[in-house]
Amino acid sequence: PSSLDEALDTLVRDIADWPDAGVVFRDVTPLLADAEGLRLTVEGLTALGRRIAGGDIDKVVGIEARGFIFGTPVAVALGAGFVPARKAGKLPALTHGVEYDLEYGSATVEIHQDALTPGDRVLVVDDVLATGGTMAAVDELIARTGAVPVANVVVLEISALGGRERLAHERLGALRTY
Ligand code: PRP
Ligand code: HPA
Repeated sequence: PSSLDEALDTLVRDIADWPDAGVVFRDVTPLLADAEGLRLTVEGLTALGRRIAGGDIDKVVGIEARGFIFGTPVAVALGAGFVPARKAGKLPALTHGVEYDLEYGSATVEIHQDALTPGDRVLVVDDVLATGGTMAAVDELIARTGAVPVANVVVLEISALGGRERLAHERLGALRTY
């Protein structure tokens, strides 16, 4: 691909009826597998996060699992540290936890209590915003540590599922909205 738009057009595929009947899953693995597609996406997320944050970013929080992949190189590009927000039971030290509803089911997301410092300015990174339940839960986790989400960026926003309305804040950015 010679541009981010072309990468998103050609390297994200739709998988019908996965993980459940009636769900169309947007699969970013071809985008990850393409060297230029991956580079353009990381560059795009970094620029978007920087623009929305409008100031220092101390930490990047990446959401399991694909937010880890995109979030880590964004953190390196920004000179920030990386903090994982994980599904329940995966983090070894003391955690905060928030339960949320997913497009297909429910889950709990956790963060280490000492991973963020009160006042830290945080960029949240994930691959897809669907219902927004996951992103809202991660915002709540960050708030519990006393840190501040200053930008939330995703590669893809599935607008029909209403995530943006659910979040009801101005700091959400997406590289592509369907
Ligand atoms: C997907 C996706 C987002 C979330 C979006 O992760 O990567 O994190 O769902 O959905 P929402 O906006 O409706 O909350 P998933 O829960 O499938 O976990 P995984 O990345 O570990 O497979
Ligand atoms: N792709 C990836 N993650 C998701 C999706 C999707 O279509 N829907 C909810 N989470």
